[in-house]
Order: sequence, then structure tokens, then C-alpha cells
Amino acid sequence: MDGQVKVAVIYYSATGITYQMAQAAVEAAGEAGAEVRLRKVRELAPDEAIRSNSGWQAHRLETQDVMEAQPDDLSWADVVIMGSPTRYGMIAAQLKQFIDTTGPLWAAGALADKVYSGFTSTATSHGGQEATLLSLYTVFYHWGGIVVTPGYTDPSQFVAGNPYGASHTSNNGEVAPDHVALAATALTAKRAVLMGAALKRGMAG
Ligand SMILES: Cc1cc2nc3c(=O)[nH]c(=O)nc-3n(C[C@H](O)[C@H](O)[C@H](O)COP(=O)(O)O)c2cc1C
Repeated sequence: MDGQVKVAVIYYSATGITYQMAQAAVEAAGEAGAEVRLRKVRELAPDEAIRSNSGWQAHRLETQDVMEAQPDDLSWADVVIMGSPTRYGMIAAQLKQFIDTTGPLWAAGALADKVYSGFTSTATSHGGQEATLLSLYTVFYHWGGIVVTPGYTDPSQFVAGNPYGASHTSNNGEVAPDHVALAATALTAKRAVLMGAALKRGMAG
């Protein structure tokens, strides 16, 4: 059995904030020794809606070469980290639509016994960050996943302030993730890899 932990970072981002957090998760997971896939979920919004928002249009072009997530990315991974902007206190429909394609994998038990975590961004302070992460984790509980969070396991978390997962307040895409949000995202990813490695070793033994 290949001992290297496989991590899938699967995200949705309209205006690029959550994408920057996804990149931080990828970098940290790689530094922690994992093999990492970065995957965006398929865009569902009509072209005219995207074109009406310059930030959305620009981000779509920026990430046109990022591969789209497939159910196989979930079965491949030992660790899955999902990110989404908050939409009324929940994950974006685009990420939920991807999640809703996983019925066959779920039925086969292929989503269980993996480590899962998440990150989010909002326009306003709090703004539903914890609710979004908890709504995402509800899916992971249904899958039989093991949810790993940053908690307060590092002093930086007393500054970041969200033990449920990494989060950032963007003022509607105006404020890029700062070092606090990126550090929380990196911590989340590193802990997920660490726990994923321990689980993988344990399950193999
Ligand atoms: C339909 C919609 C609903 C949103 N709901 C919330 C919300 O409940 N709370 C909040 O603070 N921000 C909300 N936002 C703002 C986004 O979550 C925020 O701008 C986020 O950082 C965008 O991330 P992105 O650049 O990755 O798309 C909403 C945005 C849209 C378009």
C-alpha cells in the first residue's frame, strides 16, 4: 500500500477569495508530505450572471485551467478538504450539486473512513461562517467521515478565532485572505494530513 497521504482540495469560488484559501490548503498539505489534487466544482450560474460581475468573470478566467472535481477525486483521496463561500449561512449550490453526485460512492461505502475538513469565506464578520462549516460537516457525518478541525490547537487560533475551520471575512470580495486566514487554512490542512496519515497507518496495520 502506498503510504503517502492523498489529499483532495475541492472548492467553489465565484470571486476568488475561497480559491486563495484553497491554494493555501494545497501548499500546506504538500508541505506536510501529501500528494495533493486541487479541484474546482463545476460552475452552474448562467454566463450572463457571471459576465455581469467583473470579479466573477475575472476569476473564472483565472481558474479556467483548474480541473473540475469528479467523484473519483473523493474515492482517490484519504483526506478531503472542501471550501465554499458562505451563501446565506450555507455552502454554495455549486458545491452542493457536486456533493449530490456522490450517491453511488456513498452507497458503496467509498466515502467512509476518510478525514474531512473545510474552510469558508463571508462578506461580513461572522456572517454565517460557523453555520456554513457545520452544514458542510453534516454531509461528512452522513458519509461516515472523520471531521478534523483546527480547534484551538495552535496559539494562532486564538487570533483567527474559529475552531470549526478556517474562515475569512472578505467584504464581498474586496479583502483578500490575510496571513491570519491563510495560517488558519494551512493549520487546518496540516492537521487533516497528520490525522489522515495516522488513520491510514492504523487501517493498514
Ligand atoms: C447569494 C450570496 C449569498 C451570500 N450570503 C452571505 C452570507 O450569508 N453571509 C456573508 O457574510 N456573506 C455572504 N455572501 C458573500 C460571500 O460569501 C463572500 O463575498 C465570499 O467571500 C465570496 O467568496 P468567493 O470570492 O470565493 O466567491 C453571499 C454572496 C452571495 C452571492
